[in-house]
Amino acid sequence: MITIIGAGKVGGAAVLFTALRKVTDEILLLDVVQGLPQGEAMDINHMLSEKGIDVNVRGSNDYSEMKGSDIVVVVAGSGRKPGMTRMDLLKVNASIVKGVVENIKKYANDSMIIPVTNPLDPMTYLTYKVSGFQKNRVFGMGNMLDLSRFVQFIHETTGYSRHSIRAMVIGEHGENMLPLPRFSTVSGISLLHLLPKQKLDEITQGTRQIAAKVIELKGATVHAPGNAISTIIEAVLLDTKQVIPVATYLDGEYGHSGVSIGVPAVIGKNGVEKIIELDLDLNEKEWFKKGVDSVKNAIANLEL
Ligand code: 2OP
Repeated sequence: MITIIGAGKVGGAAVLFTALRKVTDEILLLDVVQGLPQGEAMDINHMLSEKGIDVNVRGSNDYSEMKGSDIVVVVAGSGRKPGMTRMDLLKVNASIVKGVVENIKKYANDSMIIPVTNPLDPMTYLTYKVSGFQKNRVFGMGNMLDLSRFVQFIHETTGYSRHSIRAMVIGEHGENMLPLPRFSTVSGISLLHLLPKQKLDEITQGTRQIAAKVIELKGATVHAPGNAISTIIEAVLLDTKQVIPVATYLDGEYGHSGVSIGVPAVIGKNGVEKIIELDLDLNEKEWFKKGVDSVKNAIANLEL
């Protein structure tokens, strides 16, 4: 059973994409707003019925119903509005996420937690600390979404099939995110051979900024985050060992400790089974460190 906490647009999309993947038989959607998760569950169940998919979606306002969850996804909190950075949400979302995590600890102590609420990396750190769960069981969804945008830029710029593209984005899910052209390929051919430096710089910068553009145009990002959540859930439930960048607690990896931030990890039935350490060059290390400093600065302001 999967629980998704937060029945807004991203929570609803996460339920939808997870149900379509048929990797669990039950999804619980929780929210404090009366009626919202129940209505969303009905709507999705109607769609699943027509498709003949036997995944049961339930909406509730009662946290105790998450007992027995394998994974709890935390989407609760305020979303980014036009003109805001993700970090602008720190204060308002920290207290919401803290309350949610205390409930997870109470009712789903054996689960894994996937934080999604922004600012993603500080919220993952908060979740790790407040839950007291082992570090492999708390991993935030941020860079997986950044990665989907980077792939789209590579597809648009090269004209090659999305299917042939393997890309990587690590670091802060925020202003200092680090798309990695050096570790990205089209059917094994390095992006460095396919695109001139100026194009690489453009798509790197575009990947950092495109969410703000979507939010300016339609008010929120919805489908891409919903899908990215379901990709991580699938990797855990099917024990695929897919290498996915997730925000996780660092204990010396990449030369940093005491911070949660995005790094590539092997995801399987035990959550983060291994952190993959890429051999970053000086410039990449510098960007990564800027992200670490930004997240550390944010978590220093959290009351845990
Ligand atoms: C996103 O990148 C806003 O963090 C959210 O879509």
